[in-house]
Parts: sequence; structure tokens; C-alpha cells
Amino acid sequence: MQDTIDVRSDTVTHPTPAMRQAMYTAEVGDDVYGDDPGAHQLESLAAQRLNKQAALFVPSGNMGNQLALLTHCQTGNEVILGEDCHIVQHETGGSAVIAGVQLRTIPSRQGILDASEIEKRIRIGHDIHYPKTGLICLENAHSNGRVIPLSVMHSISKLAQQHHIPLHLDGARIFNAATYLGCQASEIAQYADTVMFCLSKGLAAPIGSILAGSSDFIARARKNRKLLGGGMRQVGVLAAPGIIALTDMVQRLDEDHHNARILGARLAMLPGIQINLDDIHINMVWLSLPPDLDTEKLMSALRVAGIKANPPEFGQMRLMTHWQINALAIDRIVAVFTTQLSK
Ligand SMILES: Cc1ncc(COP(=O)(O)O)c(C=O)c1O
Repeated sequence: MQDTIDVRSDTVTHPTPAMRQAMYTAEVGDDVYGDDPGAHQLESLAAQRLNKQAALFVPSGNMGNQLALLTHCQTGNEVILGEDCHIVQHETGGSAVIAGVQLRTIPSRQGILDASEIEKRIRIGHDIHYPKTGLICLENAHSNGRVIPLSVMHSISKLAQQHHIPLHLDGARIFNAATYLGCQASEIAQYADTVMFCLSKGLAAPIGSILAGSSDFIARARKNRKLLGGGMRQVGVLAAPGIIALTDMVQRLDEDHHNARILGARLAMLPGIQINLDDIHINMVWLSLPPDLDTEKLMSALRVAGIKANPPEFGQMRLMTHWQINALAIDRIVAVFTTQLSK
């Protein structure tokens, strides 16, 4: 039997053999008492990688973002962010429930926000009708797979500082963005007061994300994490693979990006498939299928070939590479598309 290939997302990655070994031997303590050595090590390593004062290990990226909103804002504040970002689209409306804030979305040009559009929406003055602008959020890499240029982040960060508004970065894939830009993650993180990134996506840890910022902010976020039920006990078994994610796995992300470009280029040669190869910045390939293609048949052929993929939405399909997708897996994926498109 052939191995299953899973290109639905990079969240599907399994921990590497080295991670499983590290989990087995991890020293643990009760982290709510501050006793878990692995959690301390992971948090200080993460803070160091982003050049922030402190960091907090949280169960998910979603919780990291929501914790940032809760810790930065007062109930009734307004948060300015892109209309297509993860916090708006994929966090179950949590910002209304948890932080009790109002989201003020702005148009996004493939993930890029204009500083002038943000500026127009910053609440100035003491009009009693206005909510207070409590936070600006950016996302890099964007969940559309594109990396936002540092110049864009710089101009928005300058604007935020002028108005004394904190800036949070959803950097779920910040290490992919840094790999694409050829810079350190800290060079991206410098433009934000707080940063969330995921250990559990392309970096292959089984669970967990990091929220980083100033020591004072992280102390308050730690209390809020407890409030949300996210205080974890013998969490060293999860911190151990997180440390490997930050030391080893960050170094191989270019391989995933390379494989995404190869996959994209090969699929783009098939009749009727449209891919903008310039949009493949990280490990994500978006393709448009010919309108007359029987997508049910394509999905069934992929299933039969042992390939898990999400079906197209509005004619667009997303395939993601990660450490478990190698050249052979790419051959198998391309073979199915080739057969289906030549029928
Ligand atoms: C940009 C972005 N932010 C946040 C998240 C949430 O991460 P998690 O799935 O760990 O909650 C994701 C997940 O895919 C994401 O793509």
C-alpha cells in the first residue's frame, strides 16, 4: 500500500521522529506553578528568535490571536484589520465573544493593507459616539500564501506609533515569510508590539503557538490565558517538539517553498489549469481549474490515489507542501491531475 499524501494544509504535519523522541524524554513540571523547564526554555528561545522581551506558549494560533486582542484592548474598543485576515474570517467571531471588541475591516490588496486606509479609520478626538481604536492587526505571511513586503509593515507601524495604537502581527507563518524574504523573523517582528506564530504548521510540532511581546504584556497575557482555561500543566512534552521546531525545522522551510514552486510549475503546464506562479511565495499553491472539469471525478481520483486534498471553492483549489511532501509525492499528485485533465 502507498503512503497517504496530505496536501490539505500544513496543519496536517505529523511530529518528526526527533520530536517524538524528545517528547518521550522531556523533563516536566506543573507550568501553572511555573515549574516546567521545557516551557521556560521554549518561551525564552521564542522571545529571542523574535527579539521580544518575553513569550508565552499557547495551545493554538487562534488562542494566541484572541489572547492578544483581549490583552491589548478594553471591551468596546475597535480593532482595524484586513477584511480577508484569519482573525476576521476563521476565528469563529471570537473577538466579539472574548475581547468584546468591534472589528473594523479595510480592503486588502492580496493581503496588503494601505496605511492611508488605516489612517482614515483611526478614531481621533473625543466624540462621544466613537469607540476607541484599541489595536491594529496585520498578517504575514498572509493566509493567501503571499508575503507582505517589510516596507508596507514599516509604514503601518510608523502610523500606529504616531497614534499610540499597538500593533499585533498574526505571524502564524512568520518563519515562512522570513525564509521568503531572506531575513530573520525578528526583522519582521520589529514592526509589531506583539506577534503570534504557530509551531504546529510547517514547523511540524503537534500542538502549540507562541505569543510574544513586552514582559509586562506577556505577564498580563499569561493571566488571561489562565482565564481562558489555557493554563497547561506538564506541558514540557509539547514544549520539547516546539524547541525542535524552532531550532531544526525553521531551517528547512525553503525545501517546502521549492516543492510548492515545482508543483505549481508542473500543474501550470496542464491544459486549462491557471496558476500565477509569482504568487507562490511560501508553501501554498493556488490553482484555477477549467470550468468544464468534473471536479467530483477529480476529487474521487485523488482519493483513490491516496491523496487528501480539499475540494475547490469558487473554482480555486489550494494545495500545500510540508516536510512530508517530497518529490515522489509531487509526481503522484501531478499524475492524477494529468490523467483527469487529458480526459
Ligand atoms: C494566518 C493564520 N492565523 C492563525 C491561524 C490559527 O492557527 P491554529 O489553527 O493553530 O488555531 C491560522 C491557521 O491556519 C492561520 O493560517
